[in-house]
Order: sequence, then structure tokens, then C-alpha cells
Amino acid sequence: MEISERAKSISPSVTLEVSAKANALKAEGASIIAFTAGEPDFNTPEYIIDGAKSALDEGKTKYTATPGIKELRKAIAEKFRKDNGLVYTEDQIVVSDGAKSSLYHAFAAILNDGDEVIVPSPYWVTYCEQIKMCGGVAKVVKTDEKSGYKLFKSQLENAITDKTKCLLLNSPCNPTGVVYEESELKDIAKVCEDHGLYIISDEVYEKLVFDGKKHISIASVSQYAKENTIVINGVSKSYAMTGWRIGYLAAPLNVAKAISKMQGHTTSNACSVAQYAALTALTGRDGENYIRFMASEFDERRKILSSLLDAEGIKYVYPSGAFYVFMRVDDYFGKSYDGNKITGSVDFCNLLLSEGVAAVPGAAFGEDGFVRLAYTVSKEDEIEGVKRISTFLKKLV
Ligand SMILES: Cc1ncc(COP(=O)(O)O)c(C=O)c1O
Repeated sequence: MEISERAKSISPSVTLEVSAKANALKAEGASIIAFTAGEPDFNTPEYIIDGAKSALDEGKTKYTATPGIKELRKAIAEKFRKDNGLVYTEDQIVVSDGAKSSLYHAFAAILNDGDEVIVPSPYWVTYCEQIKMCGGVAKVVKTDEKSGYKLFKSQLENAITDKTKCLLLNSPCNPTGVVYEESELKDIAKVCEDHGLYIISDEVYEKLVFDGKKHISIASVSQYAKENTIVINGVSKSYAMTGWRIGYLAAPLNVAKAISKMQGHTTSNACSVAQYAALTALTGRDGENYIRFMASEFDERRKILSSLLDAEGIKYVYPSGAFYVFMRVDDYFGKSYDGNKITGSVDFCNLLLSEGVAAVPGAAFGEDGFVRLAYTVSKEDEIEGVKRISTFLKKLV
């Protein structure tokens, strides 16, 4: 049987090779510090588990409305009002099985074949593949140290063609941890308005913002932005609920309806019990406290990891959000470890495993000169992990 051209065009995950190797080494009993997991290492809080148990006891195990149970969509609309100053009716909210699914349906609902989507790099790898799967073309725009790894409005302007439909924005960003300021979002929104572009704004890390910064949704910076943005969010990262698979989006009514219609033929409703768990997460008394606890824990780890890297003279993008440090490794390209030459971030990560550290190659995020360290590990592991990275670097010749 022959697979489609579309399926052929999808790139395999560059992270898989390193993860598979790390797992194989662990299974053999090797000590590996894994800076690879893109998910909180905490358990889902008790009050949310209790909410799910009650839903099960009450028999909430049937199909629900495709865009999600009304109570949850109302709670999400309230979240947008309270946290982001955005007013939506519950009909403008669609709940999906994970923000990844929300993103896919958002691209599917607005892209025609050949439409271009501007994606600032470094980017989360899934965007480009989903855009392709929906018939679009990802137009990657490189950001760099000079722009603080953010998209300048002039860069955006230069990337626009008559095929550009949409801008994809991710703040706080995976993998850099960069957080856009309100003034920067206003500049970007103005360029989008001047060129009639839509915006898809991925805000799944909104609760993990540090250094006194505040997460601002680009949809809130102007009337145009509100009317032309699909905001993507979810409970995975905010409430340590990655396995429950609940994401959501807010969109103009006609777009939300189109997404719901399409979702009715792809995944249907998200898991009913997980929806009730998400409802408890958003409305439960303990939610704010839990988020504060988790954010302060990640903040502490962020400070520890960055000071450890500073002490070793290792360069990285200073993160203000999410739970990642994007470490610069291109200075080591051309050097060898144990007779093996490092030509890129995949080699770097493969060889780093020999010193007992797993990291994700920057090639997975469109920036081969870096590797991503997720500080979803204990502080003790951060200390040991950086010690091992330092040993690795000292062995390079
Ligand atoms: C930037 C970004 N967006 C979306 C997602 C998907 O989240 P979910 O677990 O809700 O599908 C992730 C998960 O790693 C992510 O890093």
C-alpha cells in the first residue's frame, strides 16, 4: 500500500532517536539525567483527581456535546475574562483533546491549499508539520540574539507575501522561554492588521511567567486582534494534566463553529471525565494556590539551572517563562568526543548521552545551534546534570 504525498511530507521527530537511546540506556541500568520531558513532573493535584472521581461516580461517561460540556466552556470563557481581559461567549469556545488537537483544528479551519503561515523560529516542532497536514506552507522566520529571539515587526513585514494567511505566535515560547511584552504584541498586531492577517496564538505556558513579567494575550491588544485571533490554551501545563488531554481555543463565532463541525468528524468530544476534571481545575478553590506553588517551584529551578550554566560559562537564551533553557552549542561543532566528531545538535545530544545526560537537539525546533534542557527535574538532578554537561564539554577536543 502506498502512503499519500501528504503523509510522506511529514518529518519524523528528531527527538525520537535520542529519547529511544536514553530509554535503552536506562533499561540497561545506566544513570541518565533526562532534561527531555516537556511536562510538569508533579502529579495532578488531589482536588482535580477528586473532581474526576465524582464525575465517574455520577456516570458522566457518555458522549458530550462536540465542543465540550457547557459548564466547562463557561468556565473557560470566565478564565479568558479574568486572566486575559477577553470577553467570549461559550459558543466561541471549543474544547479538544489537548492543545495540540486545538491547534490542528485551528489550522484546518482557516487554511486553504498553499496558504502561508509565518512561524518564528525557534518554534515548537508540531506547528510546521500540522500546517503541512492542513495543506498550508510554513514560512519560517529566524529570530536571533539581536532581537532577543523575538519576532521584530520589520521581520514580520518582510516575510509577508500575497499568500500569507496567518501568523503563529507562541508566548511564553517553547523552546526559548521568551515572553513577549505588550508593546511588542501591539506592534505585531498592527502589522497583522495592516496586511489583513489572522493570528493563532499558542498560550499554553501562560501560567509560567517569571521575573515579574505578565502574560499578555495578543488577542487583547486591539479590536482587530480580538476579531482575528484564535487563542489556544489548555490545562496540560498549568495544572500538571498532560495525560488528561484537554485543550481549548477561543475564536470568532464562525471559526469556532467551523472547528466544532470538523472536530465532529475527527475526534468528536474530548474525554468526558477529563472535561469534568478540567472544570474542577479551573473552578476549584485550590486552583490559584496550586498554580502559585508550581510556578514558584519552576522559578526556583530556572534560577538554579541558569546560575549553574553561568558558572560553567555555558551560553543560553535567558528564559522568562515556560520550563525550558535553550542552551547554545554551536561553539562545540567541529570538536570530537571520544573520536566522534560533532557536526550538529543531534550528534551533540547523542554523544552527551555517554556522560549520562539526555537533552533535545535544537534541530527539532529549527535551530541546530542549540539543545533544549527542560527543568522538569529535581534540583539535585539539575546540579548533577550540569556537572555531567561540564565534564562532557571538558572532554571535547
Ligand atoms: C508550545 C506548545 N503548544 C502546545 C502543546 C500541546 O499541549 P497539549 O498537551 O495540551 O496537547 C505543547 C506541548 O508540549 C507545547 O509545548
